[in-house]
Amino acid sequence: MTPALAQQRIAALRAEVSRHDELYHRRAKPEISDLDYDLLKRELADLEGKFPQFAAKDSPTQRVGDDRVQGFREVAHRERMLSLDNTYTEAEFRAFHVRLARLLGTDDVRYTVEPKIDGLAVSLTYEEGDLVRAVTRGKGDRGDDVTANVLTIRTLPRKLRGAAPKIIEIRGEIYLTQAEFRRINAERAAAGEDLYANPRNLAAGTIKQLDSSEVAQRKLEIVLYGQGYSEPALVSSQTALQKTLKAWGLPVVERYWTVRGIDEAWAAVGELDRLRHEFAYATDGAVVKLDDFGQRHDAGSTDKAPRWAIAYKFKPDTARTRLNGITIQVGKTGILSPVAELEPVLLAGSTIARATLHNEDEIRRKDIRIGDLVEIEKAGEVIPAVLRSIPEERPPGTAEFDLSAAVGGKCPVCGGKIARVEVAAEGEGVAWKCQNYECPAQRAGRLGFFCSRRALAIDGVGGVVAAKLVELGHVEDPPDVYDVPLETLATLNLGSDDEPRVFGAKNAAKVVAAREAARGLPLERWLYALSVPDVGETTARELGRRHRSFAELADSALLRAVLKKADLAGQREWEAPASRRNPPTSEAERARRKELCARLDAEIAELEAGPLAGVPADLGPAVAASALEFFASVPGKRLLAKLRKLGLDPKGTVTAAGVFTGRTFVLTGTLPTLKREEAEQLILAAGGKVSGSVSRKTSYVLAGEEAGSKLEKAKELGVAVIDEAEFRRLAGA
Ligand code: IVH
Repeated sequence: MTPALAQQRIAALRAEVSRHDELYHRRAKPEISDLDYDLLKRELADLEGKFPQFAAKDSPTQRVGDDRVQGFREVAHRERMLSLDNTYTEAEFRAFHVRLARLLGTDDVRYTVEPKIDGLAVSLTYEEGDLVRAVTRGKGDRGDDVTANVLTIRTLPRKLRGAAPKIIEIRGEIYLTQAEFRRINAERAAAGEDLYANPRNLAAGTIKQLDSSEVAQRKLEIVLYGQGYSEPALVSSQTALQKTLKAWGLPVVERYWTVRGIDEAWAAVGELDRLRHEFAYATDGAVVKLDDFGQRHDAGSTDKAPRWAIAYKFKPDTARTRLNGITIQVGKTGILSPVAELEPVLLAGSTIARATLHNEDEIRRKDIRIGDLVEIEKAGEVIPAVLRSIPEERPPGTAEFDLSAAVGGKCPVCGGKIARVEVAAEGEGVAWKCQNYECPAQRAGRLGFFCSRRALAIDGVGGVVAAKLVELGHVEDPPDVYDVPLETLATLNLGSDDEPRVFGAKNAAKVVAAREAARGLPLERWLYALSVPDVGETTARELGRRHRSFAELADSALLRAVLKKADLAGQREWEAPASRRNPPTSEAERARRKELCARLDAEIAELEAGPLAGVPADLGPAVAASALEFFASVPGKRLLAKLRKLGLDPKGTVTAAGVFTGRTFVLTGTLPTLKREEAEQLILAAGGKVSGSVSRKTSYVLAGEEAGSKLEKAKELGVAVIDEAEFRRLAGA
């Protein structure tokens, strides 16, 4: 690979890994399995190793995932909380021992082998035996103070039994049992809310709730297995620590093994794999640790993980079953996605009857056919997926899957026209799309999206409820949800005539309260909520902050200026005297075109200094055309008319006079008091922009402690570097 290609790939991988870090740690909504995540990360680490010139201190390979969210007080850990390196094969597992033995100068070592609990890491501080604080891992050095929420865990003693040290940090994992997970999801299903994919996500989502009375409604559990800072140092081995934790009355793992050498450790891993399904918590691997703390000290740690411990991840559970059929779901944008209908099979503790098949191209690539015996996988975190078919077991008479033929060339929901379209999102390629904006599936999808958390947060109107409201004709366009009377909501039957399941008065009242609260949300959220084609969250924010109302937006001078500029730029390119496609044929023409270009340049500059000042480049002509077209279309006009009729006139937070208008910031390192999101909000609120990479167009690099390559780049390019104090002065905050 050439250095240029490597640099590109490294940048792409860093962005991708960071995105998955955010999904896993902050939002508790991972999109890929741990294994796929590790593969991405390994590829990145490999490339960084091979091309050290592109190494960066802020690369995701150099830090632990950050779980901090807004609203919690941040607290420093007395001793850093590290993560663990993962292994997936016996060879990798044994290589850990070889490295360690070399480091210690002996291979006579004792290990403990413990279950790796699939929960959420937490550090408890006990002072003189009293529980004083519970903090998440955060960035490793500091995390969020979640004491109030941890205090809702009934099985956690507030006081250690017997003699306790002056101060000790005890580390463990918060989790939810399968049973509690199912109970909560069933409740959410009844209320029409989105379901959590697995216990870990639900536990992580719960611990990050700001209202601890809500947390108390869910039975969180905890198990403890480690220590951080201790004064005085009490024990000198993991085995002794396990015994002490138990003697103090703390919940500990059911089983651990103290073994000698790697062969015994590997045998213990096998035994653990056979027993782990009986444990109260979900486990996704084994953790092997040096038993002796003195040896641990000698082995030391990297920034991210100790050299004295490693995780071995168990293979995700797979099962074989028959693919009975492929049904097609239609999403809010009309994209048709295939779903596998399976002969029900028990997998990782639950019965699986459906799994995702991603898209038609993937089905073709893997040559998966209806009637095939298929292998399905559930990797704990993610929805079950069909991995492959087993061609040796293929019955006669199967045919290649053809999505369009399967739906008879029309939308399976509304019967409308379908067409092949390019899907913008990376890796999605081409897909079939229902062309009918009024398709009930699209309507329901848009309504569910309109009510989702990041849109208008009208909790309670999730997939099932949205589909029902559309099916019964109560809602066509999302704003119609404001017209549904409380009584209608309360008596909404989400089940069938034979088995009615009523939405209920309590849920209905919540929806009514939430939709009223949403009236006060700013234009940007409303714009995002309306599913305007090509207008995602970032674009909605940009537009919502540059317009005062929907009326202004529908006839946006700014968007027209974007189109005008693109038009002028196109003309400029064509008329350029040096144009290869359109070379001038005479000196006179060259002179005339030179003059014309000067005029075009002046017009472009005028737009850039006027209506387009501070408008980011990613707000381009495609988005502008799409938004203007939408608001001029029949459905777009109908939506706006409905909003007007309902008295819904959300206000844009126009910050034209903001002190940072037209300024772009890049943030790097840890600031002394402001969290990254807080700094970003200050910048956005004052009309500024935040970017991920430093270029000549960057106005300021806001640098904190441990700033990495971005700081160097800023210096190299002569971009102004400011610290938090200076930033606060500029922002007036
Ligand atoms: S010891 C210094 N033991 O797994 C490293 N961690 O993937 C200390 N985890 O951050 C970790 N079960 O949150 C340890 N028996 C166990 C564990 C365990 C689960 C978590 C922990 C850690 C993560 C790393």
